[in-house]
Amino acid sequence: MITFSVEINTIHVYNIDSEDLFAELEMEKEMALRNIREYGDDVLAKECRAVKEITPRVKELVDDMLDTMYEANGVGLAAPQVGVLKRIVVIDVSPEGDQPLIMINPEILETDGEQTGYEGCLSLPGKSGVVTRPNYVKAKATDIDGTEYIVEGEELLARAICHELDHLDGHMYVEKVEGDLVDNEDLVAQQEKEHEEAAD
Ligand code: NI
Repeated sequence: MITFSVEINTIHVYNIDSEDLFAELEMEKEMALRNIREYGDDVLAKECRAVKEITPRVKELVDDMLDTMYEANGVGLAAPQVGVLKRIVVIDVSPEGDQPLIMINPEILETDGEQTGYEGCLSLPGKSGVVTRPNYVKAKATDIDGTEYIVEGEELLARAICHELDHLDGHMYVEKVEGDLVDNEDLVAQQEKEHEEAAD
């Protein structure tokens, strides 16, 4: 009697589980976007806490951060920008947007050189400002599988690493801007004009 009941239960549970699992896998393929906090929001001025363990919740956060960054056409996003005070950033400076860099508990080890150029932030949409950053950065971080790795970057990647890591300590690029913030529309118009003048 007991054996019979166990068998029935086993078959029954198995069938339901496989259907649920299928539904769950379908769900996971859908994008999950999080709200991007804007400049002035308190959460952007706070120190983030180290990630102690890469839990399913942390993995979900990273997935959502990548979806949110790509959807907003950004090259980087830090966890506080989606309201989570954890030391996590995602970066992708590749032209195709297919080389995500996931940095958990990142730390800059070395910097070298200097670059001065326009920089923007998804938390300050439509604006840019001139910021001087190191031209080379060597950093260490933990990836989504818990493996520690070293990354070296120049130019845009170096800039993105510095910009995103600043967010983890409650800092925004506006604190470092040389001169005034400009509207991206004006910047594009100005660059087009310079381009035309250079072509003449
Ligand atoms: Ni930013």
